[in-house]
Amino acid sequence: MCGIVGAVAQRNIVSVLIEGLRRLEYRGYDSCGVAVLDARGPTRARSVERVADLEGQVRDGNLEGVTGIAHTRWATHGAPVTDNAHPIFSRDALALVHNGIIENYEGLREMLRGKGYEFISQTDTEVIAHLIHSLYRGDLFAAVRAAVAQLHGAYAIAVLHKDQPHTVVGARQGSPLVVGLGEGENFLASDALALAGSTERFIFLEEGDVCELSLDGVRIADRQGEAAQREVRQVAAYGGAVELGPYRHFMQKEIFEQPRAITDTIAQTDAFDASIFGEGAGQVFADIDSLLILACGTSYYSGLTAKYWLESLARIPTQVEIASEYRYRESVPNPKSLVVVISQSGETADTLAALKHAQGLGHKHTLAICNVGTSAMVRQTELSFLTHAGREIGVASTKAFTTQLVALFTLAATLAKLRGRLNDEQEADYLKQLRHLPAALNSVLALEPQIIAWSEEFSRKEHALFLGRGMHYPIALEGALKLKEISYIHAEAYPAGELKHGPLALVTEAMPVVTVAPNDALLEKLKSNIQEVRARGGQLYVFADADTKIVNGEGLHVIRMPEHYGLLSPILHVVPLQLLAYHTACARGTDVDKPRNLAKSVTVE
Ligand code: G6P
Repeated sequence: MCGIVGAVAQRNIVSVLIEGLRRLEYRGYDSCGVAVLDARGPTRARSVERVADLEGQVRDGNLEGVTGIAHTRWATHGAPVTDNAHPIFSRDALALVHNGIIENYEGLREMLRGKGYEFISQTDTEVIAHLIHSLYRGDLFAAVRAAVAQLHGAYAIAVLHKDQPHTVVGARQGSPLVVGLGEGENFLASDALALAGSTERFIFLEEGDVCELSLDGVRIADRQGEAAQREVRQVAAYGGAVELGPYRHFMQKEIFEQPRAITDTIAQTDAFDASIFGEGAGQVFADIDSLLILACGTSYYSGLTAKYWLESLARIPTQVEIASEYRYRESVPNPKSLVVVISQSGETADTLAALKHAQGLGHKHTLAICNVGTSAMVRQTELSFLTHAGREIGVASTKAFTTQLVALFTLAATLAKLRGRLNDEQEADYLKQLRHLPAALNSVLALEPQIIAWSEEFSRKEHALFLGRGMHYPIALEGALKLKEISYIHAEAYPAGELKHGPLALVTEAMPVVTVAPNDALLEKLKSNIQEVRARGGQLYVFADADTKIVNGEGLHVIRMPEHYGLLSPILHVVPLQLLAYHTACARGTDVDKPRNLAKSVTVE
């Protein structure tokens, strides 16, 4: 999704800005741009192609400057055309980049038109540029503070003005923004990752903060306009760009990284001890009587799976809700409920807003399960568990999902132990199963050639159904999501028992029905569901545990999984579905790592 980079230095800063954009590219965008200040004012280059094209333009146009801002845009208001790409100018004096959505832009646009401002783009962003310009009286910091007081919605912005050649001003509300501190130069970005290589010292701005970067320092004002001191944090973990290695796409690489990612995630778990979730977790866990899980997309499906573990292992009532729904509905808060937010990025706007909403309703206990230790979500929760999946580049989440599942299973087992529902022997057994999981995953990954054979067939379909039961129903949902995200095949998932209540009407020879078939208590029921599909000429593609005795037959294609893996089985069963989606997308020739219209980190509502 949208990305911001800004810099004030004594050297030509264009390569730092372009490199920053390149590091944010994987998040998804549909246009990009850069602006620098020179004696005449801001100059810019913009592209509706990739950052590489922008770099070519910059080189050909000899764009150079010591102060600049840059942006990758994921279109919300206005199509991805050059006029709508950022930086947006106001009267050739001011340049601005913006992440987020301004909700009151229509009213502001009318007001600014009344003052003679001409609107060239269809963006909501242009109102911010003109608004700041209209309020500018020789002090950009003051003008931005006055302007943001009039904005409703979510934003992170970076602005420069021709009369202040060594200044970049930033502001944030509902969208992340960090300051990077250098020696005689300072930076701004929507993600610290963008500044890897330029600095390791960061200030994570707080909601409502406005900052001013100059060559020798940074000043920050809080929402009330008071000077604010913010902690400087050393973040060395950003390293270099992630390499693709022998893989064709990052998604494939990340699928195959899952055994390693899970090994790293469980490295901290010698016992199911509350302290894994942070200081004071033991007390919090003793205090709570239920869980409220909030998340979006794939992270939501990991929450849905966890509900089965939490209720069966720990016997703790668990509610799982899509964050964007929860934040806007009237719910009945329970202060004794632990709010668990699950997020790969820790920056998803809806999940962050749902967390704040829950806190506002009086939920005092909060836990983030997240892959980014410096993210807003981890900073805003009482407890946290980091998944250590490593950076995930593919938009379609894979290793982040399976490591979330490991984290959530650990949570369920920890709560079970605290509630006297897990004896020493069971604890040792679950720990052993967790440690064996990477090896078990490797044997599932070895099924890739068989899955490739199926994917040829799938690539010619336009629809697919996914079935699962019990804790494998969310896995079916995740399988369908993966397929639609990257292959653009319409896919839906149902709990298999629901088949006869609707989706059976869709079953014909043309509709592949993917079935997740673990050897669990629901197997016999699932076998009946399989027969219901076969009787109607449907084509079944079944991932069946070794001991299920489901075998190939007419209309029945089976890939044999390892032996049933008990409660952790969903973590194994999602992997062939990831591979099926991946290879089907490859066969259809889509842009697997950057599927159309989607973004890695959805920082707008
Ligand atoms: C986007 C991504 C998904 C992800 C979802 C939630 O839609 O494309 O892969 O599952 O956001 O993201 P989060 O970072 O909160 O897990």
